[in-house]
Amino acid sequence: MNTSTKLWGGRFRSELSTETEDFTQSIDVDSRLVPYDIWASQVHAIMLARQRIISDDDLRQILPWLRKAESDFRDGKFVLKPEKEDVHMNVESYLIEGAGSEYGGKLHTARSRNDQVLVDAHLYIREQLLDTQQGVSRLCRAFLSVAQKHTETVMPGYTHTQHAQPISLGFWATAYISMFLRDQKRLNAAYDLANLNPLGACALAGTSFPIDRDLTTELLGFDGTHEHALDVISSRDFIAEPLFALTMLMTTLSRLGEEVVYWTTYEFNIARLDDAYATGSSIMPQKKNADIAELTRGRTGKVYAALMDLLTNLKGLPTGYNRDLQEDKPPLWGAFDVIQSCLGILPGLLETLDFNTDRLELLANANFATATELANFLVSEQGLPFRKCHEIVGSVVGGLAKKEKTFEDWDETQKLLRSEGIDLSVAQLQHILDPKLSLRNNQSLGGTSPTEVKRMVGEFEAKLNEIDAQIRSRQERIDAAYQQTLRVIEQVLDGKTISEVTFD
Ligand code: ARG
Repeated sequence: MNTSTKLWGGRFRSELSTETEDFTQSIDVDSRLVPYDIWASQVHAIMLARQRIISDDDLRQILPWLRKAESDFRDGKFVLKPEKEDVHMNVESYLIEGAGSEYGGKLHTARSRNDQVLVDAHLYIREQLLDTQQGVSRLCRAFLSVAQKHTETVMPGYTHTQHAQPISLGFWATAYISMFLRDQKRLNAAYDLANLNPLGACALAGTSFPIDRDLTTELLGFDGTHEHALDVISSRDFIAEPLFALTMLMTTLSRLGEEVVYWTTYEFNIARLDDAYATGSSIMPQKKNADIAELTRGRTGKVYAALMDLLTNLKGLPTGYNRDLQEDKPPLWGAFDVIQSCLGILPGLLETLDFNTDRLELLANANFATATELANFLVSEQGLPFRKCHEIVGSVVGGLAKKEKTFEDWDETQKLLRSEGIDLSVAQLQHILDPKLSLRNNQSLGGTSPTEVKRMVGEFEAKLNEIDAQIRSRQERIDAAYQQTLRVIEQVLDGKTISEVTFD
């Protein structure tokens, strides 16, 4: 006699220990899957009826309870019970308790929790990816407005965190957009994987019931069906890919955080945070700290750890479902949470960041940042090999630095150049070593010149518009699929048989 109260309890002669229940349940992680579990269950039931695997009457009894489960969950009246193990068992039990097991007990025909958890996760992940893309796009637009305002604002570009060559602030800003556009591509690739239907793979081997996987693919708004049942059940690259995309994105956010932290220091003093995006100290009254940037940097490890967590989980698994795979979700959920909280706040921080353009210009003039321009001038005007010019300018810089002077000690600069056999007037020198001019001159494709930055701003803006349109149309497609499911349900509950129902 079966004494277990579990839906799978047939072969068990006693109840689970509470320790086993606690150890194996996944309720907290699953709670975000409830609406998706219900949607996929509705679609599965519709498909079963349409394929005559269950009857019209069965469907008519099942659908109202699934609909009620959805609204009860929204209203906080359907609370998931840990002793039911996971979201799937909770939803199915809710249905069975409402509709009775003669009806509710039929929903799980030709379905396994193995493909069920996958379809729920696919549905959830694709929406999270769209939300993430939207956040990235918002941040890009904040950078875009910095870029548009500052195509002529000079600042030092750095290598090794040492002055390298003058760039514009707009050039710096467009570098981030350029990086984020690749993040968008990675998120797109992840979306393509997530937007395939795993439902119908069943436990691992498909099923002998005449299911119609194309119908569930259509009703759930997927782009296609992930066919090979054993591959479907065994694979989690649809989780690894978004995680990798998030990892790279987080890397960029963290690097931005780092720049904000030191750009806003007293020592650098090239940007000031708006009061709304800074915090103070409980003891030191003067403090204004870049905590948002620091927390962004500090939370990066969570996202990296998530990717390692998942990859480590996968590496030793044999094909088929293994319970290890229940652990695939917390890392991705956590990574989405971190990324989305960062993307929620960083656009505002950037839009209100006040750049100290005077100091940027001062720094662009300082510390020999235009030395390369002088070498380039000697190449073009004196016909000397670049290596020779590098040496000449290097020795001028060395001579000036030794006396703690700069290029702007024009007479000294002139003198040192003369000793290398180069005769330039002070006016010429001032012209060659003007960082604004060096900006203008760097017109090579993708260079820092205002013309190039303006061109790239135009291109990036067009790309962002394209991405935003794609996000909107994908979201609309998902909404339309959901609405279609609701219309089918309405027709069934209005008394139509499944063969009379129109699937538009
Ligand atoms: N909670 C499980 C998971 O997240 C659902 C699938 C359970 N399947 C099973 N055969 N125990 O992976």
